[in-house]
Amino acid sequence: MRLALRFVLPLLLALTLLAYLSVFLADKFTRTWFVRDLNIRTRFAAIAMEQGLVPLIKHSANEEIRSVMNRVTLDERLYAAALCDAHSNMIYRTVHFPEQIVCRAFQLQDKPAHSVINLPSGPVHVSAAHLHDGETPLATLIFVHDLSFAVRRSGEARFYVFLFFLLTGGIVSLITVAIARWSWRGWMQNMRTIIQERGEVQHPHLRSMPEMLPLLKDLRSLITDIESDRRLQEAGTVIWNPETLKDILVKHLSGENILVVANREPYIHNRRGDDIEVQIPASGVVTALEPVMKACSGTWIAHGSGSADREVVDAQDRVAVPPGEPLYNLRRVWLTEEEENGYYYGFANEGIWPLCHIAHTRPVFRSTDWEFYNRANRRFADAVIREAQTKTPVILVQDYHFAVLPALIRKQIPNAVIITFWHIPWPNPEAFGICPWRREILEGLLGSTILGFHTRLHTTNFIETVDRFLECRIDRSHATVSFQGELTSVKSYPISIAWPPPHAQDAPGNQPCRSAVIKRHNLSETSLIAVGVERLDYTKGILERFLAVERMLDIHPQWRGQFTMIQIAAPSRSKLDAYRQFRAHAFAEAERINNKFGELANPPILVLERHHSPAEVLEYLRAANVCLVTSLHDGMNLVAKEFVGARSDLGGVLILSMFAGASRELPEALIVNPYNIDQCAQAIDFALQMPLAEQNRRMQSMREQIQQFNVYRWAGRMLIDAAQVRKKEQLSREISEFRLQED
Ligand code: F6P
Repeated sequence: MRLALRFVLPLLLALTLLAYLSVFLADKFTRTWFVRDLNIRTRFAAIAMEQGLVPLIKHSANEEIRSVMNRVTLDERLYAAALCDAHSNMIYRTVHFPEQIVCRAFQLQDKPAHSVINLPSGPVHVSAAHLHDGETPLATLIFVHDLSFAVRRSGEARFYVFLFFLLTGGIVSLITVAIARWSWRGWMQNMRTIIQERGEVQHPHLRSMPEMLPLLKDLRSLITDIESDRRLQEAGTVIWNPETLKDILVKHLSGENILVVANREPYIHNRRGDDIEVQIPASGVVTALEPVMKACSGTWIAHGSGSADREVVDAQDRVAVPPGEPLYNLRRVWLTEEEENGYYYGFANEGIWPLCHIAHTRPVFRSTDWEFYNRANRRFADAVIREAQTKTPVILVQDYHFAVLPALIRKQIPNAVIITFWHIPWPNPEAFGICPWRREILEGLLGSTILGFHTRLHTTNFIETVDRFLECRIDRSHATVSFQGELTSVKSYPISIAWPPPHAQDAPGNQPCRSAVIKRHNLSETSLIAVGVERLDYTKGILERFLAVERMLDIHPQWRGQFTMIQIAAPSRSKLDAYRQFRAHAFAEAERINNKFGELANPPILVLERHHSPAEVLEYLRAANVCLVTSLHDGMNLVAKEFVGARSDLGGVLILSMFAGASRELPEALIVNPYNIDQCAQAIDFALQMPLAEQNRRMQSMREQIQQFNVYRWAGRMLIDAAQVRKKEQLSREISEFRLQED
């Protein structure tokens, strides 16, 4: 109705105006025509009467003149007539001749004249014609024509014109509304179809309406924004914990068992003499995934790298973990030393790791390593296929060790839900493009249902890389890539830690932790302690951190002897040259700096090179005044979040690299550029002086963020998104089956 009014009212208004204009013009023209007609008639009448009247006038035959004049007025349109002599005296006038018209007004020498006069009885047209006796003007005939019939006619004309426009307006309005409704319905139908088929940028309707593409793009991104806002609102109201995660599995994925594929195993069994020791490795992947596995149960497939790993598994190479309170299965995959060298040390850690981290270590690509990488991925794919209990398993593929695995699984189990998470940064297309097997890696990853990164930047970099090197269809507004008929949703899912943080509740508070650390390392009671917790890796900014400590003690000598930086350094990838050299360099720098400041109550730097259990790490995090996370480049960095998780006392200051994904979520930390040694030195000094109230305020805010955006939410959001993709795929399968039947 509103649509009709919007169309019809302006149309009717315009037509009314047009009608008025037409009527006005028609009126004007009709009158002009009538007047012209009457003038001509007057001239003709005068010519016709001249011959008869001239002798009568000359002989003053008044009776005959009267009779001629009265006969003339028998014409129904001629209202009255008069005859004037050469001296403007009235010779005769018929009975209705208006008194106000006088002969003088029509002098003989004047040209024939005419005018329109309004009498009380109506308008009249007065015209005069001169009569001549040879060449001599003799008299003037004045005719008064009734104009009311002209007015009547013009009134009728006005009415019909108006009626015509009214009818035309009505018909045009009806047709316009009908056409508008019809095309609007069709347009809406098309838009609905196009919007619903989000991945299909080249919908057939669009081929005929390319001009709609920009509008469609805006519309889609609007819908995405609304959806993500809705998701955020939901996330704000949902409390994410192990139960929520289990519910999601049951509700959205029919309670499927989860299969995790991650190279590093969560529990490593090592032989120590007669005993078997269980080691929990220093790995962000392990920190994040263990709580998820404990919540969902299922199977974790990993490389069995411990010296006693084979001794504890069953005939299917499985062992129930955690030891002593089994909640899920660890399925071990065995690799020969040669395979491990090529796959793990070679391609994964000398190739992809430096390729993806901008830390200025040159990647090394060997074709033999690539062969072993593929072979190992196939080995893991076999294990997945054997562990999968249904045709639609949910498989979480973790990290850069398994770039080709998703496509291998997809080939064997087409309906699997494959959620791949890339835990390290993804570089820009130029940087990634130097990899000789870039195409194979991208194709492998696009076997996934969902491909996740920590940050939007890494997600965008991946999509740009795919766009540069693969023939595929990309829907940027929905971040999906369609390759060889398979759709992969590429999104950012910032990883986190479990909340409440594991081990934190039963562990000693921060005072006992501080006392224990001070005692263990013979530090002074008033020590100010900074900690760093890392694998000995060149991407972590450990050297830069040492240099910052040196600079800080140079410019703020009051801290000498009171300040100690404790670096927990887990041995890592020590078979590789780059790591061995880095380790040597780090130790040499620590020694140089300690020597530089001489004998002090507290040494500037302490490096603790060994594996520390999560409980031991927690003790250091609680004992510290400052935690230093100065990665040169890092996907997320969970140590930053673990520090915040550990500080239930709300004390301590986090110094965080701007190049770690965590800096996007924790702006309350002191954010630094690790390459800027002076800035880092100032940040340490600033942290040591930060008032307790300020520390509490910042820590409280960071804890709220991590509590809400915890690891259960990270996994839950991926599972929900995967369930949605699965539903969509199922629907499109059903539709295509239905179409086949129809054909
Ligand atoms: O994401 C990178 C990562 O897998 C982290 O989980 C962990 O910090 C590290 O690499 C594990 O290293 P590795 O398994 O080689 O000891």
